[in-house]
Amino acid sequence: MDIGLIGGTGDIGKGFAIRWGKNHRINVGSREEERAKRAAKRYREKLEKKDFSYCDIEGYKNSEAIRESDVVILSLPFEVITDTLDSLKKHFSDQIVISPVVPMYKSEGVFECRPKCAAKVIRNYLPNSIDLVSAFHSVPAGKLADLNKSLNCDVVVCGDNENAKEVVFELIQDINGLRPLEGGSLEVSTLCESLTPLLLNIAIRNDIEDPSIKFMDNK
Ligand SMILES: NC(=O)c1ccc[n+]([C@@H]2O[C@H](COP(=O)([O-])OP(=O)(O)OC[C@H]3O[C@@H](n4cnc5c(N)ncnc54)[C@H](OP(=O)(O)O)[C@@H]3O)[C@@H](O)[C@H]2O)c1
Repeated sequence: MDIGLIGGTGDIGKGFAIRWGKNHRINVGSREEERAKRAAKRYREKLEKKDFSYCDIEGYKNSEAIRESDVVILSLPFEVITDTLDSLKKHFSDQIVISPVVPMYKSEGVFECRPKCAAKVIRNYLPNSIDLVSAFHSVPAGKLADLNKSLNCDVVVCGDNENAKEVVFELIQDINGLRPLEGGSLEVSTLCESLTPLLLNIAIRNDIEDPSIKFMDNK
C-alpha cells in the first residue's frame, strides 16, 4: 500500500514511517521537499540498521505525498489543520484519510482538550469523496519510532465507512503489538481524542513513560 504522511517529518510521522516502512511504500510529506527528503533518508537508514535492506521511503512536498498515496495520515498539530487542508484539499481524489489529531493544549502545566472534535473539523475540510477514519490518538510517538521497544496498546478506530475502517484495521495489525478496536462512528472520535490529555496528565503525576491504553477483558 502507498501511505502518505502529511507532516511526516514530525514525531508521530517518524513512528509511522519506521513501523510501516518494513512492508509498505511510504511517502513522507512536508511543507518543504528537502526537509521531507532528509527525513525519509533518516528513516530508511534506521530501518536498514535493523536489517530491512529494502524499504521504499521517499520524501515529497505534502501535495505530492497525497497524490502518490492510497492512504494519507494527517500527522499535523490541530492548530494548523484547517489552513493546511484548505491549501491541500484539491490534491485529494479517493484516498482514505486517517486522523490521529488531538485538539490538545497545555495550560499552567495541565494538558487540556479544546471543546472541538478534530475529526469533525477535518471532515468539513475534506472533499466528500474522501473516507475519513480517526485512530492512533493514544499511541505514543516515541515508542512507535523505537523498534527496540515493543508496543502493547489498543487503537480505537472511529469512522462512518466500514470498508475504510477495515483497511485501517489491517494497517494497525501490521504493527506488532497494536490491537485495533471498533470505536463506532466518527461522532465518537471526540471521546477518543479527549483520552490523550487525560493519559498525559496522569503520566506526569505518576512518572509513567510513554502512556497508552489497553482495554482489559475480565471474562
Ligand atoms: N506525538 C505523539 O506522541 C502523538 C500521539 C498520538 C497522536 N498525535 C497527534 O498527531 C499529530 C502530529 O503530532 P506530532 O507530535 O507528530 O506533531 P509535530 O511533530 O509537532 O508536527 C508534525 C509536523 O507538522 C508540520 N507542521 C508544523 N507546523 C506547521 C504549520 N504551521 N503548517 C503546516 N505544517 C506544519 C511539520 O512538518 P514540516 O515542517 O516538515 O512541514 C511537523 O514536522 C497531532 O495532531 C497530535 O495530536 C501525536
